[in-house]
Amino acid sequence: MADIPDITREAQDRAASPPLESRVEVSESTLGKTKRLSRTGRSRKQVSSSSQRRLVVVSNRVPVPKDGASKAGGLTVALEGALKQSGGLWFGWSGDTVESPSDQAKVVQAGNITFAVLDLSQRDYDEYYAGFANRALWPICHYRLDLVQIERQELDGYFRVNRAFAASLAPLLQPEDVIWVHDYHFIPLAAELRRLGFKNRIGFFLHIPWPPSDVASALPAYQQLLQGFGAYDLVGFHTPQDAENFQRCLVRENIGSSIGTGEHEIDGHKVRIGAFPVGIDTETFVRAAANAERNALVRRTKASLGDRDLIIGVDRLDYSKGLKQRIEAFSCFIKSNPDFRNRVTYIQITPKSRSDVPEYQRMQREIAEQAGWTNGSLGEVDWTPVRYVNRTVGHAALAGLYRMSQIGLVTPLRDGMNLVAKEFVAAQQPDDPGVLILSRFAGAAHELDGAILVNPYDTEACAGAIARALRMPLEERRERWDSMMARLRTNSVEAWCQHFLSSLGNVSSEGLEAHATTNPENGRYPFSEGAPA
Ligand code: F6P
Repeated sequence: MADIPDITREAQDRAASPPLESRVEVSESTLGKTKRLSRTGRSRKQVSSSSQRRLVVVSNRVPVPKDGASKAGGLTVALEGALKQSGGLWFGWSGDTVESPSDQAKVVQAGNITFAVLDLSQRDYDEYYAGFANRALWPICHYRLDLVQIERQELDGYFRVNRAFAASLAPLLQPEDVIWVHDYHFIPLAAELRRLGFKNRIGFFLHIPWPPSDVASALPAYQQLLQGFGAYDLVGFHTPQDAENFQRCLVRENIGSSIGTGEHEIDGHKVRIGAFPVGIDTETFVRAAANAERNALVRRTKASLGDRDLIIGVDRLDYSKGLKQRIEAFSCFIKSNPDFRNRVTYIQITPKSRSDVPEYQRMQREIAEQAGWTNGSLGEVDWTPVRYVNRTVGHAALAGLYRMSQIGLVTPLRDGMNLVAKEFVAAQQPDDPGVLILSRFAGAAHELDGAILVNPYDTEACAGAIARALRMPLEERRERWDSMMARLRTNSVEAWCQHFLSSLGNVSSEGLEAHATTNPENGRYPFSEGAPA
């Protein structure tokens, strides 16, 4: 099969195609006050115009602006940037579990974005989110077959929640809306919407890797999941490799037929497949970093370091991030470069996540123990080599911490993109930039060629990369940083959003009738009862 094209490039060339326009639809609620939308979902102020298209974003996490809002991850930060430009509707989970969730979305209006969210019952949370999404899809897509937990009930819960979310989204939709579904939580959502008769353009973007078919085929209901992608008009991945892996999975499972490079026909419906590397809001981050010197936490941290160099790592506490290997590499670096003892500090900022998933609980204990052992064996009375912090740090302070670091250590074992790598680069001082050490298994490695690329499983090589980075001459640091910064300026989050949406705007939705009637039969998935998981 031919290589999957990088649709980003293709779309960049298509300068004439305008981004989708959008409208603000629901303006009944004010910030901080939520309101339930009626089953029809129509507000008196909604104005429908066939010449305009509203953007509807669907994602599991929705950062509704309120106290104690849902946790922001790379996905929400990227989408916030994207939606701010065009406005639109953002639909998904509220982040809350309640005893009897309503099937009507709570709506909050903030600026040009309308947030519409549903709560989950404890059972739905356990089966859909903590279960199938994070104990089957997540580990498999991150190549961790050793951590997979397959439960029939969780699989059913995943499809049940997708069906319920589609039903609750339905009354909020209008015929001209362009729907953009995000991430592994909602793979079957488009099939559910098609089943309800929706013919809108629907795109899907996967924020995590898609593995080769030998790994992906460990997914329970593998065929049905793949088939479900056929309800989308455009399916996007971070890298051409992910997109290629995905199309090969379709071919190997005889799902539809390949009709060209990056194009597949499933149930008579054409699906385009391509790579759209997500970016950051580069200029905003550059400004935040430049202003961060005044930040209190940044100033205190600087003072606490004295004249030691700083190595920084920032990751959700997840086994895909390679934290164990990273601490080992740092320890190996200190042992093999004794002249750096007491001259360098490694700060690892790692907010806990998914702590109710057993695989995460185990790993959290192990990493904490390892950080403790490392400090115990390497540290001095006046030097703590590893500062391991399970806290979230705000964006402004992070920008400042990146800027004062000599090294950004970003060494996931597998990662869809990794926006920390991009933020670290954007935060640097142009005349004295730090060095990015980046795993070759992060999607960002495809773009950030000025980083020192490492194999995170190779402890000695990573230790060597740290030594090399700390000794790197200014001229080389500048050269590397310049080339990465040029990429970040071109491939910003705005560009990502525009390229995806203009590609989605250019696909035709022919064949949807066929798809809607053939999948799934009788409104039931074949595995929901009695089929092997
Ligand atoms: O793409 C990965 C992702 O789903 C993003 O939303 C975010 O980076 C992270 O995982 C958040 O995970 P969770 O929503 O499970 O806390």
